[in-house]
Amino acid sequence: MTDLLLTGIGSLTTNDGPPIAGAVVAIADGIVTYAGKEGDAPSQGAGRRIDCEERAVIPGFVDAHTHLVFAGDRSDEFARRLSGEAYASIAAAGGGILSTVAATRSVPDEELFELARARALRMLAAGTTTLEVKSGYGLDLDTERRLLEVGRRLGEELPVTVKTTLLGAHAVPPEFATDREGYIDLLTEEMIPALCELADYCDVFVEQGVFEVEEARRIFTVAGRYGLRPRVHACQLSPGGGAKLAAELGAASADHLDHATSEDAAALAGADVAAVLLPGASYTLGGRHAPARMLWDAGCTVALATDCNPGTSYLEGMGLVISLAVVEMGLTPEEALWASTRGGALSLGLDDRGLLVPGARADIVVLDAPHPTHIPYRPATNLVWRVVSGGKVAVPD
Ligand code: NIG
Ligand code: FE
Repeated sequence: MTDLLLTGIGSLTTNDGPPIAGAVVAIADGIVTYAGKEGDAPSQGAGRRIDCEERAVIPGFVDAHTHLVFAGDRSDEFARRLSGEAYASIAAAGGGILSTVAATRSVPDEELFELARARALRMLAAGTTTLEVKSGYGLDLDTERRLLEVGRRLGEELPVTVKTTLLGAHAVPPEFATDREGYIDLLTEEMIPALCELADYCDVFVEQGVFEVEEARRIFTVAGRYGLRPRVHACQLSPGGGAKLAAELGAASADHLDHATSEDAAALAGADVAAVLLPGASYTLGGRHAPARMLWDAGCTVALATDCNPGTSYLEGMGLVISLAVVEMGLTPEEALWASTRGGALSLGLDDRGLLVPGARADIVVLDAPHPTHIPYRPATNLVWRVVSGGKVAVPD
């Protein structure tokens, strides 16, 4: 019995073949049971019907890289950067990530949850139905736990799927400023063992002046023993060994990759490590974009994500991300849409979504536009008309 039937679809993107005009999608028990031409649809039982009136329908966005749980903002640093200060020098002077750590540590659980909940709801309203949430603004056992708990709770209380990532190695916290080894010991000996049940993945910010490749290898090796696969902040601000480390370790993803080389691309493709690209950060920092075309052509599974965070990319929806990928990075609108849906899903090991075929989870966006190319074409407009998450209409609810 069909619970929900979307009819009158002007353009249906299934990610399993070309777009279909004049389509319907049928849903039962949260799962797509039919997605295709109206004329070929099996006879449908009762249930709710939504006439899409020739609008475009796409899979829900999968935002595979966010730092969603934080307090405060860094608009002051944004303004300083616009007058010429560098991200790295602000960070070296105790600003950057560490200023958000201070703000986040000082906020009680419920307030932290409410801040993150509001962001997640804005993401949902912009079409995101699955998101990855990193810790990384706690940098001590208690606060990292609180951030991961907020991430898990978002997935329990909101109509979004959440995967969590322990990013204890986002920066060395101030209390370990003169003892970075001591912090890595704390991470490997206490934080990972204590928090592995709350996380699906482990991440390390591999970057000059942050964590070295060998330090990351040590952290990821311990994380692996506790069942956490790596996702790696790699080659964001400078070239480095992060992408090759991700390939060597069989990471789920290497993220950012703004300075990745063709050798990095070949290594990632060969090891089946997803390349999660975050053009919002390059845009906000005024840095170079990842070589998306090269990574795609090398055979990488490319994903696009917001990187939502208060320092480098305060984006809460995929519209601008897709537009940057198309206008600045050389992906076609079709490729960018795939990377924002199926690519993100594959990077998170979620084979049941990011496509609209029988058996897929019914995470669906109806756009208030006749074709999905309107997303990059009209990046400043939230074109989402309806969101269906797990078969239920979530926007408007
Ligand atoms: O993905 N690169 C490291 N982490 C974030 C920035 C975090 C921050 O500045 O607060 C990023 O860009
Ligand atoms: Fe990030």
